[in-house]
Amino acid sequence: MGRLNRLPTSLRQVPALVLAAGAVTLFSGFDWGLHGPQSTISAEGPVAQSQLNLFYVTLFVTAGIFVCVGGALAYTQFKFRARKGDENREPPAQTHGHPLIEVGLIVVSTLLLVIIAIPTVRGIWYMNDTPDRENALVVKVTGYQWWFNFEYPDLGVVAANEMVIPTGRPVHIELRTGDVIHSFWVPKLAGKVDLMPNRANHMWLQADQANYYWAQCAEYCGESHAKMKFRVISLDEPEFTAWVEHQKSDARTIDPAAAAAAASRPRAEFAAQSDATDIGFAGSESPFAYWQEKQAEPTPGSEDVDLITSGGEVFKQRQCIICHSIRGSAPGGNVGPDLTHFGSRTTLAGAALENTPENLHRWLIDPHEVKPGNIMWRDAYIESPSYNTKYAETLTAEDIDALVAYLSSLK
Ligand code: CUA
Repeated sequence: MGRLNRLPTSLRQVPALVLAAGAVTLFSGFDWGLHGPQSTISAEGPVAQSQLNLFYVTLFVTAGIFVCVGGALAYTQFKFRARKGDENREPPAQTHGHPLIEVGLIVVSTLLLVIIAIPTVRGIWYMNDTPDRENALVVKVTGYQWWFNFEYPDLGVVAANEMVIPTGRPVHIELRTGDVIHSFWVPKLAGKVDLMPNRANHMWLQADQANYYWAQCAEYCGESHAKMKFRVISLDEPEFTAWVEHQKSDARTIDPAAAAAAASRPRAEFAAQSDATDIGFAGSESPFAYWQEKQAEPTPGSEDVDLITSGGEVFKQRQCIICHSIRGSAPGGNVGPDLTHFGSRTTLAGAALENTPENLHRWLIDPHEVKPGNIMWRDAYIESPSYNTKYAETLTAEDIDALVAYLSSLK
């Protein structure tokens, strides 16, 4: 401490300040902003956990190297600094390295690389082989500019932009693209894997608990890449089974005769769950609770049946049906997402917007404004390129009001 005493008072306080700041951040529960909805630091499944462990191994090894090298550098800078009167001294004897130190550094570097390599290779094998294949749920994921299609081949279910999975069971994911390269990324459940043209990739993930996860395309894929998001919802097994049964059913209709049949359809009963630490949707206690609310049918009599019926007609008569399908009511193309149960999703437009009537209105009036360059706008624009109101002139305001009511009713 003798040398420290020679420093000016303000400099002597630096170590104490650093220690105090470290203690405050460590013990105050300050999370460094690292636990947001797309954080890889808060892993919630075995694949993400194994990748997080590998990250920590690498972090600690490299942090150790940084402290040793940086410490040695700082020590020599301080110890051998120029002092008063040094100008006239001879430079110290010049040597060409020290064999023991050089061999030692090579051995230590090799050892450190081995320490990183062993868990890396183990992690690569682990994420490559889906465990318990017979019991695993298979989901075929196809990326398009700019949305994700989720097909469950063993269950006969097709969904878009929101992938629902069971908890505690491996999900084997087959990754394909319908156009350019995309990348499938659910930060809290597993690292990124690309969807490549002419190549079948696969991965697996598993969620430990029922929750609602943010996810997105992680490979630049055109002008709306940043809007190519999706969600993963994990459900306990009974709720998952109920969800599958409901998804298999045809679209909801509110024709009085069909309404009676619809009432007897199986529906998921959801226990109240809380996830208050994540970003919430307005009016709901958590995104997961919001998703659960979205599954419920509207209170009988609360809907404008005439408007919904005319929306169904607009859907069939205008160009919607060329690209989109509504099973049971309006079977159509499969160029765009299947909309059979659109009203039960929390998001729309490739999860770029929350699924509210206001946002659906905004999306239908001008899809280009929400997701620039998307095919829905492009095709409408080609139909009448002389306008810059893009989509608006192909659908009247009444059409859009009716479509919003109709699509929102498709629980
Ligand atoms: Cu798809 Cu970026």
